[in-house]
Amino acid sequence: MKGNLETKSEELKNMEKENEILAKMKDEFTAKFGAQETRAYFSPGRVNLIGEHTDYNGGHVFPCAISLGTYALVADRADNKTRMFSMNLADKGIIEFDMSGLTYDKAKDWANYPMGVVKVFEDAGHKAAHGFDILVYGTLPGGSGLSSSASIEVLTALILNDAFGFGLDMVEMVKLSQKAENTFVGVNCGIMDQFAVGMGKQDCAILLDCNTLEYRYSKIALEGASIVITNTNKPHSLASSAYNVRRAQCEHALNELKEVKPELNALGELSNEAFNQLAGAISEPLERQRARHAVLENNRTLEAVEALEANDVVKFGKLMNESHYSLRDDYDVTGKELDTLAELAWQVDGVIGSRMTGAGFGGCTVSLVKNEAIEAFKEKVGKAYTEKIGYAPSFYVANIADGTHRIK
Ligand code: GLA
Repeated sequence: MKGNLETKSEELKNMEKENEILAKMKDEFTAKFGAQETRAYFSPGRVNLIGEHTDYNGGHVFPCAISLGTYALVADRADNKTRMFSMNLADKGIIEFDMSGLTYDKAKDWANYPMGVVKVFEDAGHKAAHGFDILVYGTLPGGSGLSSSASIEVLTALILNDAFGFGLDMVEMVKLSQKAENTFVGVNCGIMDQFAVGMGKQDCAILLDCNTLEYRYSKIALEGASIVITNTNKPHSLASSAYNVRRAQCEHALNELKEVKPELNALGELSNEAFNQLAGAISEPLERQRARHAVLENNRTLEAVEALEANDVVKFGKLMNESHYSLRDDYDVTGKELDTLAELAWQVDGVIGSRMTGAGFGGCTVSLVKNEAIEAFKEKVGKAYTEKIGYAPSFYVANIADGTHRIK
């Protein structure tokens, strides 16, 4: 547990950093859109501590929002047009779109995420009365699997809700954001990312039952240890098509299980014992394996949260490692880069647990590392990974942050 003084100075440092970012953004906003009154927003990214590929299987997840994310400066416009500019993707220029009747447009590149949210809001009866000038700046490393898309989706949802007084609560905005990603962008993701981004709470992870959307916060007080995110920096992964294949395999397995157990709604409803008894009903061995991961990972997540809440961080770490084995062996979503990072981490003294986080195939691992071992961890893992893979990973010590909010 950090002392009060240390926490305070860290908070101050974060505020100073945020003010610096907002000042730079204000200059850029004026340069791009002219001097105007603006409102400021922040939407975090997320890291999932355990419970992977369980959300769309009606299981539990245990993610938290992090202090890396997406900032926006917003000004109202009198007409129906929105203009957006990203400081991270300056070469894409200012992207313009109308606030009604939107369809996916490849030429509008990253703006399809906010456009999707505008469209889903309109379809749900929450029609925008005018457009905006919006400047965004992201501190999340691109393509890292830390949910930059969910971050900008929920950000857009809050901007709309605030401007037009739709009166939606955050869970409703989270659901609409997921819908935008599913139906507009065309990525068949579960609800974890948008939920963690929108509902995040400082110093807490969220235990979410994705079957019922019941959730509760669990305080993360790691005595003398930190959450370290390591980015494989793997370029171009084919994550979304392989992701959809995994979903389809699990759905098919569930349908076969339903033939022998008609009341079953989701793999997340099964205990490990019940699954072992029923598994023979799944005809394809590969699909049996995928379903086994979904069931065991869900129950492992519940066990892990229980351990953490009983201050048994060591057990939590072991379960993180087991989660990685299962994602590697049964679910097959790790790959050389993530496996290398996890295997190297397991060898470092002071590492309590380490696993891939997010969809997999590339992206990041999450590790619990004792504070005094963090430097050695970065050095050892960084060096050996670079030797084996040919390029370096990046490291971020995660601060657990609040969900999407307006900055006052
Ligand atoms: C991606 C998806 C989530 C979830 C994870 C895997 O991040 O967006 O819905 O399925 O993969 O746990």
